[in-house]
Amino acid sequence: MTLTEIITQRRNVKEFKADPVDFEQIKAMLQTATMAPNHKMTEPWEILVIGEETRQKLNHKPNFGNAPLVLAFLSLRGQNAIEREENLMTSSCFVQNFLLLAHEQGIATRWASLGMQPANREIMGVSDDYDVIGVFGIGYPVEWPEAKPRTAIEEKIRFSS
Ligand SMILES: Cc1cc2nc3c(=O)[nH]c(=O)nc-3n(C[C@H](O)[C@H](O)[C@H](O)COP(=O)(O)O)c2cc1C
Repeated sequence: MTLTEIITQRRNVKEFKADPVDFEQIKAMLQTATMAPNHKMTEPWEILVIGEETRQKLNHKPNFGNAPLVLAFLSLRGQNAIEREENLMTSSCFVQNFLLLAHEQGIATRWASLGMQPANREIMGVSDDYDVIGVFGIGYPVEWPEAKPRTAIEEKIRFSS
């Protein structure tokens, strides 16, 4: 698979097969994802492996697509607003690396943003030191959805003087 194929074929998957994923394989992908661009090498990401009890309490209605593994990706807030923003950018690069690496290995992901809600942060035991980028169902997909069309990039390019 070329990088272009990985980027264009990755999907936010709705439903997962019951087959488990190999956590060592996931860990290796997370390690590779740490090669993301990183301002001042703060490595602001953290990964929370969501256990069954927490998962039930989160009460995600599609239950993360019945994924065999659920991970929350956190980003350290840092000392001030700029650091927090830069850390979020860095952590998002890390997350995207992971999503693409997963796709390369035939593993699908489903993004849920419920981790931003205070009640869900509490359920997950996330302190005020962290932002929650997302909570992700991870596993083998029942099917890969069709691509959602994107706007032609010409409509997004502007030129400054
Ligand atoms: C910040 C962010 C939050 C998202 N939250 C959700 C979510 O709560 N539920 C969901 O189904 N998808 C969520 N998504 C995934 C998007 O819906 C998905 O990426 C988009 O529909 C494009 O589909 P694709 O990823 O398959 O190309 C989120 C994506 C981002 C970047």
